[in-house]
Amino acid sequence: MTIDFYWRLPTHGCHSSIRYGAYDRGDWSPLAAGNIAPGIDASGADDGFRYIDHLAEIARAAEGAGFTGGLIPSFPNTDDPWVISPLLARATRTFRFMIAFQPGFLNPVHAARLSASLQRATGGRTIFNIITGGGGPAQTWWGDSFSHDDRYGRTTEFLDVFKGVWTQKDFSYRGRFYEVEHGGLAPLLAHEDIPEIWFSGSSDAALQSAAKHADYYLSWLEPFDQLADKFARVKERTAALGGEQKCAVRVDLVARPTEEEAWRDIRIGFEHVGEERRRHGRGGPTDSVGAARQQALRPSEAKRYEDLIVAPNLWGGFNLLRGGPALGIVGSYEQCAARLDDLIARGANAFILAGTPHLEEAWRVGEEVLPLLGRNRDLLLAAAE
Ligand SMILES: Cc1cc2nc3c(=O)[nH]c(=O)nc-3n(C[C@H](O)[C@H](O)[C@H](O)COP(=O)(O)O)c2cc1C
Repeated sequence: MTIDFYWRLPTHGCHSSIRYGAYDRGDWSPLAAGNIAPGIDASGADDGFRYIDHLAEIARAAEGAGFTGGLIPSFPNTDDPWVISPLLARATRTFRFMIAFQPGFLNPVHAARLSASLQRATGGRTIFNIITGGGGPAQTWWGDSFSHDDRYGRTTEFLDVFKGVWTQKDFSYRGRFYEVEHGGLAPLLAHEDIPEIWFSGSSDAALQSAAKHADYYLSWLEPFDQLADKFARVKERTAALGGEQKCAVRVDLVARPTEEEAWRDIRIGFEHVGEERRRHGRGGPTDSVGAARQQALRPSEAKRYEDLIVAPNLWGGFNLLRGGPALGIVGSYEQCAARLDDLIARGANAFILAGTPHLEEAWRVGEEVLPLLGRNRDLLLAAAE
């Protein structure tokens, strides 16, 4: 059984430490001494190093540390993954680029041609994280006021058309959102592999769309039994349609030589979070079922970091320390590897891992945690027999 490991590329800047909140890598915060990409030189001027150069370093580190590729997230405040990916492809050899995008914002035929060109240029290193949006102001920011379930209806049709023009010579389609007459990519482009489709979303509408189109169903980390149930439901739905669904988990790790060191970093990080943010966390109003499931993991009044420990090595306060999901794994290298093995035993076929700072942690997790995987899995399987 091959388990693929991806790393996350932070397209909205990065912190130099999980202990402090400052985005001191990138230019999303005002530049100060010690900032990286861009930084300031001895005379106080911008040193000419761009954030894309830093992302390239992370991609190269992750590639060297054994990761298959990287997730490139897409939010209103990030750089654009379609632009970042081909730039990074030139800086790496085998690293695959998981472009996150909301299908509704692109014409599916144009997206197919764009992707086929990318496949040609990168030797087939393009994959997708299909996201459908969390509603609220982040959605209207894009000029999109469709309801939650209509957005998923549109995603499904987008993928029907995207795959249709790629695989059929004379493709016509008449849907609610898209119509195509006598479509089909040029043979040279259609010859490329369709990018693997990873699919995120926790609602019923998401699961239904994923069952039809996803190669991998992708979830944030949730308590393990809850996640195992979710994976089982997705796998069942896809099986009912005659397919086989692989599942993947996107999770942050704080992996240190000892468990005490890992929790010390979390404690210091938590102590730097202001009262207001501890109460409300990060993130605005949303109709996202996935975001609601993450919020539900976190008590509203956490006075100590220990109040947010939801299970051994699982901490529910990551969204206080940086944007993104609440739950992540904290522990020694061996414990982190053991938790990943637990997830594999519960149906995970692949992972997107992340750590702060993304550059140094790519090396650390690649060197210290990934080689320990499998040992625990063998023990788990033996115990189950
Ligand atoms: C692993 C993962 C990664 C995601 N990445 C993004 C992203 O980069 N940009 C975004 O706008 N939404 C992202 N999302 C949000 C989902 O795609 C989806 O829009 C949201 O969960 C609402 O759908 P739901 O109600 O089905 O959960 C991500 C979700 C997951 C689980």
